[in-house]
Amino acid sequence: MLENALTIDDLKALARRRVPKMFFDYADSGAWTESTYRANESDFARILLRQRVLVDMTERSLATEMVGQSVAMPVALAPTGLTGMQHADGEILAAQAAEAAGVPFALSTMSICSIEAVKAATKKPFWFQLYVMRDRTFIERLIDRAKAAGCAGLVLTLDLQILGQRHKDLRNGLSAPPKFTPKHIWQMATRPLWCLQMLGTRNRSFGNIVGHASNVGDLSSLSSWTKEQFDPRLSWKDVAWIKERWGGKLILKGILDVEDARMAAASGADAIIVSNHGGRQLDGARSSISALPGIVDAVGDRIEVHMDGGVRSGQDVLKAVALGAKGVWIGRPFLYGLGAGGRAGVARAIEIIRNELDVSMALCGKRDIRTIDTGIIDEAPWPV
Ligand code: FNR
Repeated sequence: MLENALTIDDLKALARRRVPKMFFDYADSGAWTESTYRANESDFARILLRQRVLVDMTERSLATEMVGQSVAMPVALAPTGLTGMQHADGEILAAQAAEAAGVPFALSTMSICSIEAVKAATKKPFWFQLYVMRDRTFIERLIDRAKAAGCAGLVLTLDLQILGQRHKDLRNGLSAPPKFTPKHIWQMATRPLWCLQMLGTRNRSFGNIVGHASNVGDLSSLSSWTKEQFDPRLSWKDVAWIKERWGGKLILKGILDVEDARMAAASGADAIIVSNHGGRQLDGARSSISALPGIVDAVGDRIEVHMDGGVRSGQDVLKAVALGAKGVWIGRPFLYGLGAGGRAGVARAIEIIRNELDVSMALCGKRDIRTIDTGIIDEAPWPV
């Protein structure tokens, strides 16, 4: 029951029971040995907060801005591929839940529901995440479609020129729609509600790709398709070209290194997201939260710095904000909510994070998220 879910882990346990294994594993996994995936979460626990008492806590505010947009709290739903396989119409339901909660939603290039389908089902502008493929005509058309849909920002992902080694997906034979092999049929048969809901929608393949790309190729093997289609030569020159073609707010996602952060700041983008793709790309890279302070120190006065990776509670959000993040993005937390209970599940995930953020902030003796800085940090394993 969603009401009984008090933590993101509770939602994860519910999602595991409702989503076919190959799609649950797609969310709940990292690359190779998954050490970076684990470090993203565990490094948050190594940061200690300063408990303060006897400060009047009656009025509190989490509201702030992300990339010039007013938000109810500094949290956004990160772009995630195949979200419509966690739950039928997943991208639409997540976008609606985000809209109702006053936080931004970013739609992945690799979404199941298309840009136009999400636009038709929502009232406020959402953000669009772009992967750069070799077929530049297709990329131009994607940018134009995002513009036509009134998207408020373009999130350009830089850390997937080639795909990380995702063993679970390879072992599971991940595809969308699922293949009809005995293994996959069995996985779906054990999740009847998921199947019923999926039968009720037409959104079952990649809505932004199929019917829109000139060379769709064979999407039944996602890893070889990515190898063929994604552009391994993506460069800073392309960033300039995309910035010009887009003409709106540009957020560069997937920066983990101070040198890259300096290049990003020089590119004229509006924001960067310190990210290792949720531990799904370079296994062995450092955690996002440990990379954040150095990057904020190097470029925080020139460009808005956000982060994602391993955030599983509102307290993690608070720690990231204290270390300089103006925005904190969550991927798996909302996917688990979606798998557990569709739109209501995403709303529950957001609510859990908001409540924990509010309580943790208050117990640190602070009333306004905009006043949070390193002063609330008692101890961290890195210089802050
Ligand atoms: C992702 N991520 C991602 N990023 C992106 O730019 N485009 C995409 O299509 C996807 N797809 C995707 C699928 C799934 C299942 C996950 C879990 C993640 C990465 C995502 O935007 C974000 O960086 C991480 O999810 C953040 O880590 P947490 O919050 O999941 O720990």
